[in-house]
Amino acid sequence: MSEQSITYLLNRQSIKFVRAPGPDEHQLKLILQAAMSAPDHGRLRPWRFALIRQDVMPQFVDKLFATAQASDSPIPPQKEENARRWLKEVPLLIALACHRDHGNVKIPEHERMLAVGAAAMNMLNAAHMLGFGAFWSTGLGTYIDEVNEMLGFDPLDYRFMGYLAVGTPIDEVFPVTRPDFRQFVKEYRP
Ligand SMILES: Cc1cc2nc3c(=O)[nH]c(=O)nc-3n(C[C@H](O)[C@H](O)[C@H](O)COP(=O)(O)O)c2cc1C
Repeated sequence: MSEQSITYLLNRQSIKFVRAPGPDEHQLKLILQAAMSAPDHGRLRPWRFALIRQDVMPQFVDKLFATAQASDSPIPPQKEENARRWLKEVPLLIALACHRDHGNVKIPEHERMLAVGAAAMNMLNAAHMLGFGAFWSTGLGTYIDEVNEMLGFDPLDYRFMGYLAVGTPIDEVFPVTRPDFRQFVKEYRP
């Protein structure tokens, strides 16, 4: 592995506004397979994904908002309008969930969620390396139980963790300045 590979990681940035083309089948397999290399205490494979492709996006969006608006936490109209405008273009959403595995007392739930977060990060990086823009959102009813159920992730068994939007960036992508790591690091001295 060369230092050049690291530049991919250093240059990744989130890109929310994407359109078709999204990943083709081969590229999508690579992105999803990248999730399988995430660190995972106990090899529990707690990650679960639901693919929402462009052909079903309009039905998903209508169902999402109908479900959210009938729930105890309706989405404000302006947010709905913005989300509808955003999703009109998005060619692929990867819905993310963590299997709660109640029977497992050895590995705490937060470690399983960290594994799913690492899997999501691997997918964001894989999408970036393939030239796509990608964005993790915990909007779109992520914290509404009925929306989770609609996606097949019953909150009793799964913790829903949002969506990755993946596609071709709509706007020109400019480099972003990142903080200097030294602000966040100290040397441990016994
Ligand atoms: C778990 C998680 C959930 C997020 N949810 C949202 C969200 O709902 N809306 C939003 O604007 N940004 C959200 N973000 C932040 C963006 O995905 C993105 O990280 C942020 O815009 C910074 O861009 P960067 O990744 O290029 O630093 C979320 C990030 C994480 C890690």
